[in-house]
Amino acid sequence: MAAKRKAFITGITGQDGSYLAEILLEQGYEVYGMVRRSSSFNTARVDHIFGEIELVFGDLADGSVMNQLMRTIRPDEVYNLGAQSHVRVSFDIPEYTADIAGLGTLRLLDAIREEGVRCRFYEAGSSEMFGQVREPPQTEAIDDDKPALRIRTPRIEFSDVHFSYRTDEAVLHGMSFVAEPGKRVALIGGTGSGKSTIASLLFRHNDPQSGQVRVGGHDVRNLTLRALRQRIGLVTQQVHIFDASVRDNLTFFEPADDGTLAEILSSVGLGEWLGRLPAGLDPKISANSVSAGEAQLLAFARVFLKDPGLVILDEPSSRLDPATEAQVQRALGALLVDRTVILIAHRLDALRRTNEILVIDNGAIVERGPTASLLDDPDSVYAALLRTGALT
Ligand SMILES: Nc1ncnc2c1ncn2[C@@H]1O[C@H](COP(=O)(O)OP(=O)(O)OP(=O)(O)O)[C@@H](O)[C@H]1O
Ligand SMILES: [Mg+2]
Repeated sequence: MAAKRKAFITGITGQDGSYLAEILLEQGYEVYGMVRRSSSFNTARVDHIFGEIELVFGDLADGSVMNQLMRTIRPDEVYNLGAQSHVRVSFDIPEYTADIAGLGTLRLLDAIREEGVRCRFYEAGSSEMFGQVREPPQTEAIDDDKPALRIRTPRIEFSDVHFSYRTDEAVLHGMSFVAEPGKRVALIGGTGSGKSTIASLLFRHNDPQSGQVRVGGHDVRNLTLRALRQRIGLVTQQVHIFDASVRDNLTFFEPADDGTLAEILSSVGLGEWLGRLPAGLDPKISANSVSAGEAQLLAFARVFLKDPGLVILDEPSSRLDPATEAQVQRALGALLVDRTVILIAHRLDALRRTNEILVIDNGAIVERGPTASLLDDPDSVYAALLRTGALT
């Protein structure tokens, strides 16, 4: 008689686990169920098959036990059902939940690999926890055999762009607009309307499901990511400051001339700030050691250093004190010269620096026009949104 096939189940004391154990027993498997050592013996759901299954002690939080179990049992099939199955509880103990659902799976897979067990592996725990995750069309591949972007100050064109992060919720619905070379286009609209999403498509953090995003006449998908990103200065709503020196925070750890860096810092209004630091560009800074205004100015300094022909600026909506605000606006003014600009503006001062305004609502353009005329037209959608306070 052929040896019985062995199944190993984590989470056997749950409803799915006990049901699975029954089915496998019916099919003639030898069933091993892992239970955690706890003060109360919580095996009510498998009591009726207690004599037929083998319960072993183990814990997804402990890799050494997983190794030992794989070594001694050598299962043909592993069913990982052990997880935090109460979504509500996962909010109370998020780190433990992530440890069991994420690292627990890794520990089990690693035990299988280390012990050389040849088995089939079924992962149920994390899908139970996180739902069926559908991957967004994220784009991080580097592809060097594509054309480079030759024009310094490119034209931007969105034509009939449809995009959703998840397949069931459209975020951009047939977005079309043009920013001519050297022109500044403002995107304004309420929170969640899709403004940052437009920036993410230009920078190719994501690709549209249909329609085209063109930079300098090229569909961005036909450009190398490196060429595209080298030519775009992207300032997002959240400026990331690394736990690193001022120098590395500006250059992203690339070599650069200290004189140039100091010059740029003073041109954005950070000269005095730099002067207060003990040793020039060497002191370490961190997210906690710079103010919101300083972080914003450092982000501008990064763009000046890169000197791209296209700038996408997603302004933070947080308020700065009037002096810092004035300084940020001054630096912004210099930053926008001789570049094509997509400015997601939250402040009127910044908005006034643009040539054209697109008002975005729910992933579509609901109004567009030259900045000067829209700002002064009391009947515009823009003016109405401003009155209701819907603009961020
Ligand atoms: N990474 C993501 N995954 C899933 N949905 C997302 C993601 N980023 C944004 N969204 C959703 O897409 C929609 C548009 O978001 P977006 O960030 O573009 O808005 P926004 O106009 O920039 O808003 P705000 O003014 O608050 O910055 C929102 O419903 C948002 O919840
Ligand atoms: Mg945004």
